[in-house]
Amino acid sequence: HVSDVSLASLELGPYSHFMQKEIHEQPKAIADTLENLLDSGFVPELFGAQAADVLSRVRGVKILACGTSYYAGLTAKYWIEAMAGIQCDVEIASEYRYRAAWADPEHLVVTISQSGETLDTMEALKYARELGHKWALSICNVRESAIPRASDLVFYTRAGAEIGVASTKAFTTQLVALFTLAATLAKLRGKLGDADEARLIDELRHLPGSVQHALNLEPQIKAWADRFAAKNDALFLGRGLHYPIALEGALKLKEITYIHAEAYPAGELKHGPLALVDENMPVVVIAPNDSLLEKVKSNMQEVSARGGELFVFADLDSHFEDSPGVHVIRTPRHSGVLSPIVHTIPVQMLSYHVALARGTDVDKPRNLAKSVTVE
Ligand code: G6P
Repeated sequence: HVSDVSLASLELGPYSHFMQKEIHEQPKAIADTLENLLDSGFVPELFGAQAADVLSRVRGVKILACGTSYYAGLTAKYWIEAMAGIQCDVEIASEYRYRAAWADPEHLVVTISQSGETLDTMEALKYARELGHKWALSICNVRESAIPRASDLVFYTRAGAEIGVASTKAFTTQLVALFTLAATLAKLRGKLGDADEARLIDELRHLPGSVQHALNLEPQIKAWADRFAAKNDALFLGRGLHYPIALEGALKLKEITYIHAEAYPAGELKHGPLALVDENMPVVVIAPNDSLLEKVKSNMQEVSARGGELFVFADLDSHFEDSPGVHVIRTPRHSGVLSPIVHTIPVQMLSYHVALARGTDVDKPRNLAKSVTVE
């Protein structure tokens, strides 16, 4: 006779919460999701038997999702348009389903849903069909759930059961699936040569290791958490591929710590949020060494000049130093186009440790549900 409490502690192993466990499971969840692909390369069959025909015919992509899954979609837009050279729109499912949307039948509908049961995403898929879209792909973590059953093509992420209400390992494995989609669409369009494919596969092979390096930053992130715990607001900044990760960082903080958090693309700072910046508003910046780094640095100076305190996640190549009002945690060496996946880890851990410092219910935040099957 095992009580619920001891059952939960068995499943939790050495961890205090499911969210913490799930954050730490990400190297394995990503490796499992990558398993077939590392052998096969970017082949359409990863998305189902009919995928070769469909993926070579699609002229664009329409992504529909909610919550964290929507932010995975926003990241995918950058990859799909840059790598495959086709249009990619991303929409919040609950908005799309009620608007007179323009539909190109040859645009592939891609739904992203951890549970495969989110009502708004399911209804958005049905509506896209009514509007004439010919093909639908589901990226989902739960086998045989409603959304993949209603789709033509499926890619199952292999994150394993996710119990914490705030999504963590589901998100990073969705990103892996979406990156694979972008690369596969690119290859089918003659935009990914053999050498580039081999290089990307190699980067993916190293991804679980880079994620593990990011996890090893936990003690440093924990040391930041106390500074956030007493705040009422926080601002997250990123640019390009890292803007959706800033959004996800702000969502995680809101969900589990109840601190009001917003994310902005750093270049938009001067069009509003700069008015909020003072010593009470911590500003988290995701600043890896990419082509936008110099722009991000000048955005950061705008914050410092107004007395704002900066908390920067910068990779080894970004060359940031700690200075008064500027705290830096160095993430692993820049991981190219996969960098948003690696930079998700520190923002997840930051929320987790701030929640611990504030004593909120990490796994079951107030008013939220894991799977939203009602409107
Ligand atoms: C809820 C969960 C979120 C999740 C969203 C979409 O709001 O709390 O973590 O991102 O639903 O869920 P889905 O299962 O469709 O990805």
